[in-house]
Parts: sequence; structure tokens; C-alpha cells
Amino acid sequence: MTTPFSFEPDELPREGVSISTILVVDDEPSVRESLAAYFEINGYSVLLAADATAAAELLESNVVDLVFTDISMAGMTGLELLHWIKARSPETEVFMITGSLELDHAIQALRGGACDFFTKPLNFERIGITVKRAEEKKLLAAQAQLYQVLKQQKQFEDQATLETTLSLARAVEERDRFNIGHGRRTGNYAKMLAAAIGFDDNGQRLVRMGGLVHDVGKIGIDDMILNKPGKLDAAEFTAVKRHPEIGEYIVKPISFMRTLALPVRHHHERWDGTGYPDKLAGEEIPVMARILCIADYFDSLTSARPYRNPIPIPEALQIMREERGKTFDPALLGEFFGALERAVPEA
Ligand SMILES: [Fe+2]
Ligand SMILES: [Fe+2]
Repeated sequence: MTTPFSFEPDELPREGVSISTILVVDDEPSVRESLAAYFEINGYSVLLAADATAAAELLESNVVDLVFTDISMAGMTGLELLHWIKARSPETEVFMITGSLELDHAIQALRGGACDFFTKPLNFERIGITVKRAEEKKLLAAQAQLYQVLKQQKQFEDQATLETTLSLARAVEERDRFNIGHGRRTGNYAKMLAAAIGFDDNGQRLVRMGGLVHDVGKIGIDDMILNKPGKLDAAEFTAVKRHPEIGEYIVKPISFMRTLALPVRHHHERWDGTGYPDKLAGEEIPVMARILCIADYFDSLTSARPYRNPIPIPEALQIMREERGKTFDPALLGEFFGALERAVPEA
């Protein structure tokens, strides 16, 4: 477009620009052309209309981000155009241009949703700042919307994760009727210990999930063995000892549980290297497995078994103390006792 007006480009932000097309509506050609020259030199596409009816037609067939419209025009006025635009697309920002600012026009336009006023002769510096603000506002709105979408997506994922985990835990309980609640309690104790040694929220959540599913491999163990109301013989115990490997096999294909596969596999390893399935020792055992081992053991002692009543907490702690450095990581056991004492002062 050729124009008698000349402008230097302003310092309008080009990064993350969200406004591309501006519609200028004015019955004075000089106003249309000066605004068009100013916007074009600053990198925007400009549409021009000499009256509101032509503007409405352009709005029907183009995506427009901002509208600058004269108020006093023959036929449909700028205020009527403003109402038409706001009814059709409330997010389009409309700025009014007026020969002299009349208060009742200003009030009507603001009530109708106009963003601002410009009186003739136009102050282009002010117009530039206004467009920049409109861009920032639009960018912020887009970011807020994206944040909401991501937040909602994360909530769905978290919910699906929790439901899958609880479902697996429930599947174990259905098989292992003497151990109802064992996964949940082990998860809670494990989370408490993880918090005590400084795991962040996500780490604690994962450890709790590990507690919920640590015995999921029992799904693969014979019912008669799992629910035997007495002590297991050697062959039965050998069968039960397969549950950590079966558990690893079950959780590994679940993407959000992949990091739990090894802790599940190794939750019966012992610090002194005499555990199973791999006889890992000391820090070879993943820390999450060492946490689960302590939480699992504590819950097993303090819960009823087919062949015995729950062991009182002080007695259970004494049994565990004797396993310090044998079954348990000594440092972690100390942290567990500390955390338990803080949670249950009489423990
Ligand atoms: Fe186990
Ligand atoms: Fe267990």
C-alpha cells in the first residue's frame, strides 16, 4: 500500500506475537491511511473499512485481532459496530476513535466492552503502547489457558495412576485374604520413611505406590499356599519366594510403574546379602527396596497372621532392632524409628 505518511517501526515486541490482523474503520481516508501505514510498518496486516457495514462484512470473512473504529459514521455507528462485534466474538478487542471525547459516548462504549479511546489527531505513540498491551494480554490469556489444559491433563493422569495402583493392590488382597490392607499400610509407612530421609513429593508418592504393589506378584502364587492357615513347609516357602520376580514382571510393562520394577523385585533382599531373589547386599539393593523392606516387615509384625496375633509395637521394634545390619540398612532403620516416634510418640 502506498501512503503519504511515513513512520519508523516502533519497538513493539515481535517475540510471541499473538496479534496479526488489525481492522481500521473510519470514514476519513486520512485517518485510515495513517493508521494503516503505522500498523503495517510495525509488521501487522491491516484491513480497512470506510463504514461499519463494510467492517462487518470484513469481520465475517477474516480473523481480526483488534479493531480501531470511528464512533461517528454515516449509517451504522461505531457504537453499534462495537455491540455487533462483542455479541459475535467477545474476545476481539475494540478501540474507539472520536473527533472529540464526549462523556456519554465514552460511558456507552466502555459499557459495551470497548478497551480504550483515542481522540483525533491521533497519538501514535499511545496507540503503539495500547497494541503492545493487547498483545501481552492475549499472550497471557493463551498461557493461562494452556496451563489449565496441562493441569487438567495431569489431574487425569494422576487419577488414572492412582486407580491402576489401587486396582493392582486390590487384586493382591483378593488372593491373599489374610493380608487385607497390608499394601496400603506398607505404602504409608514407606512414604513416612521416604519423607524422613528427604524424598520430594513425587518420590514419596512413588514410594507409597511401591508399598501398595510390592506384593503384587502374589497373584501368581497358588491359593492353597497363600491362604494356608499355618506355617509354610520348605517347598511352599520356595514357591512364595517367587513373588518378587513375578511382581517385577507384572509392573514392568506399566509405564508409570517402570521405576518400581526393581524395588518390587528386591524388597526381600537383606542388607547382609542373604535375601532373595538375587542375594544383593548393602547399597547394591535399590534404596526404595530397602525402604519397602523396613515398611513391609514392620507391618507384617504388627498385623495378625493366620498362625499368630499382631505383635505389639514395642516388641516389634525390638525384633527389628535385632535385625539392624542383618535384614535392614542400619541408617534407614534409625530414620524409620525416629519417624515412627514422631508419628506415634508412644511407639
Ligand atoms: Fe513380599
Ligand atoms: Fe509384603
